[in-house]
Amino acid sequence: MTLTRNNDLLLQNITPDESFPVSFKELEAAAKEKMPAGAFGYIQSGAGGEETLRKNVSSFSKYSIVPRFLNDVSTLDTSVKLFGHTYPSPLLIAPVGMQKIAHEEGEIATAKAAATLGIPFIQSTVSGFSIEEVAEATGDSPKWFQLYWSSTNDEIGYSMVKRAEEAGFEAIVLTVDTVMMGWREEDVRNQYSPLKLGFGKANYETDPVFLSSIPTNDFDSIIQGILDNVYHPTLSWAKVMELKKRTSLPILLKGILHPEDAKLAIENGIDGIIVSNHGGRQLDGVITSIDALPAIVEAVGGEIPVLLDSGVRRGTDVVKALALGADAVLIGRPFVYGLAVDGQKGVEKVLENILQEMKVSISLSGVSALKDLRNLLTTNTPKAF
Ligand SMILES: Cc1cc2nc3c(=O)[nH]c(=O)nc-3n(C[C@H](O)[C@H](O)[C@H](O)COP(=O)(O)O)c2cc1C
Repeated sequence: MTLTRNNDLLLQNITPDESFPVSFKELEAAAKEKMPAGAFGYIQSGAGGEETLRKNVSSFSKYSIVPRFLNDVSTLDTSVKLFGHTYPSPLLIAPVGMQKIAHEEGEIATAKAAATLGIPFIQSTVSGFSIEEVAEATGDSPKWFQLYWSSTNDEIGYSMVKRAEEAGFEAIVLTVDTVMMGWREEDVRNQYSPLKLGFGKANYETDPVFLSSIPTNDFDSIIQGILDNVYHPTLSWAKVMELKKRTSLPILLKGILHPEDAKLAIENGIDGIIVSNHGGRQLDGVITSIDALPAIVEAVGGEIPVLLDSGVRRGTDVVKALALGADAVLIGRPFVYGLAVDGQKGVEKVLENILQEMKVSISLSGVSALKDLRNLLTTNTPKAF
């Protein structure tokens, strides 16, 4: 429970030396200045005609906050409990691969920034630093591991999950919307693949099962092995159930958009869902997360946590997602741009700004505990299904 003191926020932000970009637009522009075109394009762009990329952001404005007044909002509790852990805010860092293309300190800088705020860092399978390196750099701050299933050998995935468990990670996020790579025209235009350049190899080149599955352990062989494995058209519910048996960590499925898949997740003993369209990078023309959320929340009926990402740009987006029933929200591109602009400090600044706007917006909505957002906010909700 923190006392909301608006004056502090103003004193902190309006200072002579504050030059960090404030809005998402400015942040994106500043990141573009810092990066080569191929790397920036890889981060910024979406699949196909980028319909989903655009709608991810515009969909949020379909929902309006209807605030209540004359409630005492001098205190605010933003903490959330997920899988037995209490986190200070409902924010998590979305798994984003190959962060060294944004900044040489990549995932380590991001994980350290997240640690300063107690925000769980979700590490991607295709990271520039290994599970163990991230754990070593960040001690016991909260960390989750995102798994891309390995298509040639299920044991590679089990091995990575075991390593994450041993390194103290608190949950496994299995991404289910990447059976193949989305059709990304910007990368074709720029002839750019960070995977081929080796930016995502750290967890593979340190994995004994992966290494023993490729003919030699040189760079080309490792990259070919990753390309052979990282997309996984054979992923199925049966494999998910097998993974469940191999770990004691909670498993979340990332990329769920249909309420029937949410129900199947519960039937198969899954511990949580992340409603996501991968930031519009996979199937273009797909429903936005915020539009898919209400029907999924209804289908899940409070049995397991429902998280959301894709298109979250500011604090009020977080408020809307929570009001529509999300338990927590993942931040994606905004933190990557913060990383590109100013490394760890840049990520911290982006997260702080989102958190501050979120807190002020919750208080201005007349609410002092997250759970009350659901009852007190009305939304002009179109039914997705
Ligand atoms: C550059 C980039 C790399 C990503 N890499 C991964 C990844 O390795 N694993 C994964 O599950 N999702 C990955 N994602 C998707 C994010 O986890 C998240 O779903 C997405 O960024 C949300 O959309 P937003 O950034 O527009 O808010 C990536 C997204 C971006 C922008």
